[in-house]
Amino acid sequence: RNTASSGIIDPVRNPESEFSLNAKRGSRMVMQKRLSEVRKMKAEDTANIQGTAIGNVLGVNHSEAKPQLQSDKDPKNAIKVTREEILASRKSLPAYRVRSQLLQVIRDNQVVVVIGETGSGKTTQLGQFLYEDGFCDDGFMVGCTQPRRVAAMSVAARVAMEMDVQLGDKVGYSIRFEDKTSPATKIKFMTDGILLRETLLDKMLDKYSCIIIDEAHERTLNTDVLLGIFKELLSRRRDLKLIITSATMNANKFSQFFGDAPQFTIPGRTFPVEIIYTRHPVSDYVESAVTQAAKIHLSTPISSGDILIFMTGQEDIEATCSGLREKLLDVYTKKNSHNDNNEPNDIEIIPIYSSLPADVQNKIFMLMNGKRKVVVATNIAETSLTVDGVKYVIDCGYAKLKVYNPQIGLDSLRITPISFASANQRSGRAGRTGPGVAYRLYTEDSAYEDMYLETIPEIQRTNLSNTLLLLKSFGVDDVMKFPFIDPPPRKTIMTSLFELWTIGALDNLGFLTKLGTLMASFPLQPSLSKILLISAQSGCSEEILTIVAMLSVPQVFYRPKERKEESDQARSRFFVPESDHLTLLNVYSQWKANAYSFHWCRRNFLQYKSLQRAHDIRRQLSRVMVKKNIPILSSGSDWDTVRKCICSGYAQQAAKLSGLSKYVHLKTGMELQLHPTSALFGAGDLPPYIVYHELLLTSKEYINVVTSVDPFWLVEYGILFYNVKRRVEETDEFDVDQPSHGIKDKLDLQIDACNTRKKDVLRKLAT
Ligand code: CDP
Ligand code: MG
Repeated sequence: RNTASSGIIDPVRNPESEFSLNAKRGSRMVMQKRLSEVRKMKAEDTANIQGTAIGNVLGVNHSEAKPQLQSDKDPKNAIKVTREEILASRKSLPAYRVRSQLLQVIRDNQVVVVIGETGSGKTTQLGQFLYEDGFCDDGFMVGCTQPRRVAAMSVAARVAMEMDVQLGDKVGYSIRFEDKTSPATKIKFMTDGILLRETLLDKMLDKYSCIIIDEAHERTLNTDVLLGIFKELLSRRRDLKLIITSATMNANKFSQFFGDAPQFTIPGRTFPVEIIYTRHPVSDYVESAVTQAAKIHLSTPISSGDILIFMTGQEDIEATCSGLREKLLDVYTKKNSHNDNNEPNDIEIIPIYSSLPADVQNKIFMLMNGKRKVVVATNIAETSLTVDGVKYVIDCGYAKLKVYNPQIGLDSLRITPISFASANQRSGRAGRTGPGVAYRLYTEDSAYEDMYLETIPEIQRTNLSNTLLLLKSFGVDDVMKFPFIDPPPRKTIMTSLFELWTIGALDNLGFLTKLGTLMASFPLQPSLSKILLISAQSGCSEEILTIVAMLSVPQVFYRPKERKEESDQARSRFFVPESDHLTLLNVYSQWKANAYSFHWCRRNFLQYKSLQRAHDIRRQLSRVMVKKNIPILSSGSDWDTVRKCICSGYAQQAAKLSGLSKYVHLKTGMELQLHPTSALFGAGDLPPYIVYHELLLTSKEYINVVTSVDPFWLVEYGILFYNVKRRVEETDEFDVDQPSHGIKDKLDLQIDACNTRKKDVLRKLAT
């Protein structure tokens, strides 16, 4: 297995790897050390965290004797579910049983915190209750936010089904780049990011009578910001109701934040879950999960229950799925049992992660014809999605986390140990319909040593440039005073402001510039909206539009396990050796030249759906461009202009070649590896300077989607880091030579930090 690209750390092959998950205590300690950065960022309130007792038995909610849908009873006839049956299954949910009391509390209070175990019906029922109770009369809507796109889509589909309406009609959803609502929509599910953007356009949120901030315990960045915005908005709109739903953790905090808002707990009965830790540290959690799942499947009757496996992300999920498939096939072939060729026929293995298309994701809710369901998921299945019928949980103990180090201004994705609260949530999934078993692929000792009690809220461990840009355009000038439920570290706010300033989004006094205002109108991270805007000036916005759209979709290259070589060859035919960005542009252009053909995609090992989505996103972005009077121009075959433009947004994410194949980060000196799939490997010698789109920390520091740049461009666009006195041309608002007092006072530290690094970097640039 290619440990690098599959994201799995194989300590045998990677004995040096710092990030090795070789859980000899030592290695975990190394990860621990890295985590200390995150820990330092954690705000003071460890004391507030409720100790989550971890025992061998967990109390878990259960929805009592839920009437089985017809299709449950007779899987062979898994076709029609009658209205009565749907209603019966609704009525069996714990939330339904307290419907009238719940509605009363909502009527009596402006803010209510609703607490209930996962699966009790908060997400699917609340909106319907409100709808039935008249909250959508007089042209009003009920909005329900979800931290995750997948959940927004699938829950909307479920509610539409329960209400017997077409999805997108009375019940709809809206996620970034995809709006499935209509003027008739009454219950709207959306990501928290979408509602945040809506508040920009309509500060009073006039069309809503009630907003449900769902899964608030997840504490995503956008949810936290929304809570702050609502704190003020609620006094301006006395008629607007706010419901915050949360799994059992964190509820007090939400109540207190909204002036001791009442808490309503949905009662639920519990089933015990037995927790089994590994006796020894595991060296490869994918392998262990596969072994454990196979063992369960082969030693228990299928009817005993389904299996839910928690992994960190797409790569290890795919590896687990194919690993399990192979393992079972192997066993069946040896047993000589009847089976079709490449699929074990008594099991349905279903991956679930955010970039999967909706139809594939919905498979987790389908009933299988007498087969056992094995769902391999990211932490999306912790609370957002409830898979019924799970009896066994296998938990790898890790999650992919966005981490920001404000000291050096570095953003990255890291695989980190989960918190106790997460571990308990994960285990709890096993006991919804009966007693269950949770296998934890780590030792009890390491759990105690490595895990936080609770996950650090995203706002305290992420780059805030994007959020601050939004807040500024929302009219919040002094972001330090914004009512955050847990304030982010001051340092992070400073660095993020500084970043916005360096890309010209803020002026010397910290106010939005024209460029910044325009940047905020795109639903993109600041670096990408900057590239788009610059491209209009340098005459290559046609091309950059495509690149930005392609960066906003999941992997376009398709690499089936059994045809790796063939697909790698196909991929390399698209390579533009100086740039992965241009490679993406090339793929799209050729697809376009081939009439956006599906068959052409298949022949070339490209994901048709991803390309289609890029096409759609491109259209939406160009609509924003047209609306804002930003010209869409093509530079034709002049791809150097495109590369220079790319450099303008990524000047802080630059690296210099060191040796034959390694890069060092220009700002931080950190060693970086090109991702093995990069087009830059196609050209022989690697270019001396590059910028990158994304930094991924697994066993190594990988940079993903890379473009070779001219060092003089870096000087031009990264003037503040690389200390060459020249003005950045598009922002007449700020003058690098004379930062005014206001900004200097505010940003002193960062400027100093840059100054101390300047010589260093200049030396690097000079050599
Ligand atoms: O939000 P909460 O965790 O309290 O529960 P929910 O998501 O409203 O789920 C209530 C029930 O609906 C569970 O039994 C889910 O399995 C089911 N459900 C479903 O069958 N299909 C969906 N797309 C979503 C929920
Ligand atoms: Mg829910």
